[in-house]
Amino acid sequence: MRLQMCAWPEVDAYLKDNTGIIIPVGSTEQHGPTGFIGTDALCPEILANEIGDRLSVMIAPTISIGMAQHHLGFSGSITLRPTTLIAMVCDIINSLTRHGFDRFFFLNGHGGNIASLDAAFSEIYSETSLGTAGVNRPAVRCKIENWWNGDAIKGISEKYFADSEGSHATASEVALTYYGFPDDAARIKQERLSPRIAPEGSIYDADDYRWRFPDGRIGSDPTLATAEIGQKLFEASVAGISKKYQEFITAK
Ligand code: NI
Repeated sequence: MRLQMCAWPEVDAYLKDNTGIIIPVGSTEQHGPTGFIGTDALCPEILANEIGDRLSVMIAPTISIGMAQHHLGFSGSITLRPTTLIAMVCDIINSLTRHGFDRFFFLNGHGGNIASLDAAFSEIYSETSLGTAGVNRPAVRCKIENWWNGDAIKGISEKYFADSEGSHATASEVALTYYGFPDDAARIKQERLSPRIAPEGSIYDADDYRWRFPDGRIGSDPTLATAEIGQKLFEASVAGISKKYQEFITAK
């Protein structure tokens, strides 16, 4: 169930029996020469839509711009400041709690969002603890889950990509988007990148990032990505995330 495709009486009906919602959160940032700029938003979005259909869970609109300051050296990348993302997440949670949602499961596609989301959750809990949240707001719980977590995903990555997985523009995330968007994948896919495996290193500001990682990748060879492997990642992630969502929603 996609919130954007519901009429408000349908949301009312959903809330009679359910108070959970999945919020895909990603980023709009370069993913090397063979990856979509939307990769980090597209991955959780396609997974969430499938989970929503299978479990009849409400799926919020994707937060498709995240904290990606280090990618601004590449054309097309967009960032929110950490404080902007924190404020945005708090406003979204507070909007939805007004209607009766109280379990927020953020399905994340971008490592750079994690610190800001954790900070947003602390802000929300602080409002409750300090009594500034208002008497009508339910006790809220929030969770962030990265789509690539879990033994099944790691197993697929190790089997097909081994030391070519990397940590940015990873072979796995590129494969998942190639599965989701095969026509666009045919346009941007390349057979070989140089160097084959990108360098690794630390992340600081945007100019430094461009100097350390000239084509945008970190430690990866995403030319190994295929739609077929992407489908295996899709199935494994949908199964794993579905289980984690159900545990979250039923936990005491
Ligand atoms: Ni990514």
